Parts: sequence; C-alpha cells; structure tokens
Amino acid sequence: MDPRRPLFLSLLLFFSFASVAHATGVFHVRHKYLDRKRAIADLRAHDSRRHGRILSAVDIPIGGVGLPTDTGLYYAEIGIGTPSKKYYVQVDTGSDILWVNCVTCTRCPKKSDIGIELTLYDPKGSNSASLVSCDDNFCTSMYGGEMQGCSQGTPCQYRVLYGDGSSTAGLFVTDFVQYNQVSGNHQTTPANESVSFGCSAEQSGDLGSSNEALDGIFGFGQSNSSMISQLAAAGKVRKVFAHCLDTVKGGGIFAIGNVVEPKVKTTPLIPNMSHYNVNLKAIEVGGAFLQLPTDLFETGDQKGTIIDSGTTLSYLPEAAYKQLMNAIFSYQPNLSFRTIQDFLCFQYIGSVDDGFPDIVFHFQNSLSLNVYPHDYLFQNEDDVYCVGWQNGGVQSKGGKDVFLLGDLVLSNKLVLYDLENQDIGWTEYNCSSSIQIKDDKTGAIYIVDAHKISPAGRLEVGMSILVVLLTIMICYLNC
Ligand SMILES: *[C@@H]1O[C@H](CO)[C@@H](O)[C@H](O)[C@H]1NC(C)=O
Ligand SMILES: *[C@@H]1O[C@H](CO)[C@@H](O)[C@H](O)[C@H]1NC(C)=O
Ligand SMILES: *[C@@H]1O[C@H](CO)[C@@H](O)[C@H](O)[C@H]1NC(C)=O
Ligand SMILES: *[C@@H]1O[C@H](CO)[C@@H](O)[C@H](O)[C@H]1NC(C)=O
Ligand SMILES: *[C@@H]1O[C@H](CO)[C@@H](O)[C@H](O)[C@H]1NC(C)=O
Repeated sequence: MDPRRPLFLSLLLFFSFASVAHATGVFHVRHKYLDRKRAIADLRAHDSRRHGRILSAVDIPIGGVGLPTDTGLYYAEIGIGTPSKKYYVQVDTGSDILWVNCVTCTRCPKKSDIGIELTLYDPKGSNSASLVSCDDNFCTSMYGGEMQGCSQGTPCQYRVLYGDGSSTAGLFVTDFVQYNQVSGNHQTTPANESVSFGCSAEQSGDLGSSNEALDGIFGFGQSNSSMISQLAAAGKVRKVFAHCLDTVKGGGIFAIGNVVEPKVKTTPLIPNMSHYNVNLKAIEVGGAFLQLPTDLFETGDQKGTIIDSGTTLSYLPEAAYKQLMNAIFSYQPNLSFRTIQDFLCFQYIGSVDDGFPDIVFHFQNSLSLNVYPHDYLFQNEDDVYCVGWQNGGVQSKGGKDVFLLGDLVLSNKLVLYDLENQDIGWTEYNCSSSIQIKDDKTGAIYIVDAHKISPAGRLEVGMSILVVLLTIMICYLNC
C-alpha cells in the first residue's frame, strides 16, 4: 500500500476546512442589501431563484473508465477563452475549484498516456482573460477576508492539497468558459459564462506525472468557488447536477439541471461538511448485516460517509473492512490469496456474480446502494480477480476512521446531487443510455444522451491508477 495514503487520509480528519468562509462584500454599490454585506452574486442568485427564467440545463461530455485496470478516472471536455480552446479535466465531486495547467508551468506533463492531447492555458492568448486580484470578491470570499499584504493588483494565489498527496498551485484568473446548453432532445447549443478558475503553474505528486495526465481538475464541490456555484450565482443554472459513470463502455453522462428521468430516492446531505457526506446506517453482505458499532459511522469533524467521484476505489475503517472481507470470503473458503501491486488478489474460475455475495449499503431515509461482485472484484488477468475495498486503517484523534465511497460503488448508477434541497440520491442505471432533464426556462423536458470522449491511443497501465481527489486544503500562500 502506498505509504502516503493513510497519512493523507488521516489529515482529512484533522483539518476543519475552515479556509472557505463568508464573503465580505467588497463591491461599493448602493443597495438595500449592502448593510447585510451581501455580495452581488448573492443577489443574482436570489433573483434567479425567484424568477427561474434564465435557468437551463448543461450537458458535459465525459470520457474515461473508472476501473483500476483502465484509466481509473473520468474526465470532461470544456472550452476556455476567446478564441476558445478545448481542455480535458478530471471530474471530481471531492474538490471545489476548476483549474487547468498554465503556460507558465515548467514541470507540467507535456503528454498523456491516456492518449488525449494536452493544452496549456495561456491568459495572454485569450482576449477575455483577466487576473483575479487579491481584493476581488472571489478571492476574499474564498479565503474569508482580505489576505495580509494584499494591495490592488496583487494576484490571488492558491495551493490545493488533494487526498492522494498530490498538490497544485497557481493564480486565479477569470475568463469565459464554454459549455453545452441543452436546447432540445439529443441537442445542445454552445453557451458561455465568465468564471474564475485556477491557472496552475506547479504540480506535485501524481499530478506531475504523465501517466493519467489531464489538463486539470473540474471540482464539483459545494463551495462558492466551484464552477456550478458560479454558474448558479450568475443565474445560469440551478444547483443540481447528476453523473452516470459507465464502467462497461466508458464515458457516461454528466449534466447540470433538474433530472426528471430516472427518478431517484434520496438521502439528506449532512449540513456544513466540506464534502458530500451522508449518513450510512448499516452494511449488509449477502442478506446478513455486519455487526458494527454505530459510532463507527460517525467520524468526528468529517461526519458520515463521503461520496466522491474523484476517488477510484472505496475506503472503509478497519473494523468495517475486516468484517466485510470475512463475510465476503466466507462464501469461498478455499481461495488462496496473493498480493499484486498492493491489491489482494486470487484465482477464481467462473462468474464472480455467482460465487460471491451482493453488498448493500443502507443510508438514512431507507436509501440503499447495491454493489455487485463484478463491481468490487475487478479482473486483472484471466481468472485472476482483485478486491476493490481498501482498508482505510487510519485513526483520527478520536480513534475513528473514515468511510469514503468512490467510483467503485458509484459507477453504473445515476447519482443526483440536489444542492438546493441538500440531498443526494441514486438509482441503478444504464449509463450508456440517456436521461431526461427539465428546462426550467420553458418547462420542456429534453433527452440528454451519454457521451464517450475517445482518446486517440490506448492506455497500457497496470493497476497503478488510483486517485483520491478530495480536497484537503485550499490555501493562499504557504501550506
Ligand atoms: C456563497 O454564496 C451564497 C449564495 O450566493 C451566499 O449566501 C453565501 O454566503 C456564500 N458563502 C460564502 C462562504 O461566501
Ligand atoms: C459567448 O456567448 C455569446 C452568445 O452566444 C457569443 O456571442 C460570444 O461569442 C461567446 N463568447 C465567448 C468568449 O465564447
Ligand atoms: C451550519 O452552519 C451555519 C452557519 O455557520 C449554522 O448557522 C448552522 O446552525 C449550521 N448547521 C448545523 C446543522 O450545524
Ligand atoms: C473447500 O474445501 C473443502 C475440503 O477440501 C471441501 O470440502 C469444500 O467443499 C470446499 N468448499 C468450496 C466452497 O469449494
Ligand atoms: C444500454 O443502453 C444502450 C443505449 O441505449 C444500449 O445499446 C445497451 O444495450 C443498453 N445496455 C443494457 C445492458 O441494457
């Protein structure tokens, strides 16, 4: 096991993510809300909630396959700048900003083994680019106030630390981001909005290697700095999005808007968490419940179970992991195990779905998540399977571990994040098919199809591609 992983997962439990705090309202405009220190963006969001007339749905083309034996990730295609250029960015619900590699980056990957063509963003090459200054509203609301030593024209810097130990740093810029607005059945028209995002000049950890290199990361977190929050604040979209990640064919569906088909059952998000956390109540293996202490599901500052599309596998506290593994392998007592690249693997002849139990995670509000043997056991070579469950094995100060459910369990399901109602839900779904989204502008219901962005080359990797893209911290200068 990568020795960094337990360390950084444990960091998750210690940081309070307090870096993103309240906006301070630096706009000097007269308005009745000024006294209450409301930023302009808030007013626009307020208005659009009332009128709902300019809201629309967005269809984001995605590619990639979440299997550890394939790309291990999903990525989206977006356009940035004037004239617009294409960028491929990893979609990640565990982090809060969009960033792309900048032309000033000297150690950024130049080529990608995934076969996509990498593009460095050049603010000077875009007519519509501008630098975010440290006293701009975006910067001050990001860091909960003006930074020390901030004077007009000083750039707004950032460093993001991710859960797998990688990090990136750079400057925030504002430019037009182009996306596909859903305009009819199977049909989109280009739209754009001015968005603030990171222009990264420095990478470390896996982000610097060309293995699974992409142009950047597309954070779909709840914080005001994410692109969905900025689009919502500009009155362009509702704060509702969905993904359906396909491990069978690759790609899938990633859309912003009010999904009306399929219908999903939901569970509440735990309030005030920096990630998408939900209340896991019980785990069932082949019809029998694991006997777990209920306080195992509570993890101190990071309450509940984190749902994260930017993480390849799924991580459980040691006590849950051990019971789960015992329960699974009680179905096959005669297997002999070996370790392949840190994974627990075994030989098995026949269909794993016939020989191993289904696993059901039970959440608050009776929402359940079924995980089948072919989801949690992935085939490494003929007749050799490896286990996707990982032993988090990390203790916080309070002696508690973290549950983190990644693509291993989220794939092949339509997962809906309704940030307006603060809940999340899912249903099993064919992610190569289509969904229906209601256009709030017209009331029309449109069909949105699956996409698969096909990279030119074919990926040859072992099982090395595992990402844990939860933001641990976003900070201004030193962290
Ligand atoms: C984020 O934006 C919302 C609505 O636009 C606003 O109510 C809230 O105070 C903002 N939060 C921060 C931390 O800036
Ligand atoms: C933004 O969209 C408008 C309206 O469709 C279009 O006229 C303009 O060229 C677009 N600008 C950019 C930078 O994409
Ligand atoms: C969440 O945070 C807000 C503002 O900090 C606070 O008013 C509210 O009570 C918190 N909610 C919970 C459930 O902790
Ligand atoms: C495991 O091996 C024992 C002894 O060889 C045998 O009796 C049993 O049927 C085997 N179980 C399975 C599930 O193959
Ligand atoms: C999933 O949907 C696609 C497109 O409609 C279809 O071709 C495929 O057969 C479906 N797969 C399954 C397993 O139903």
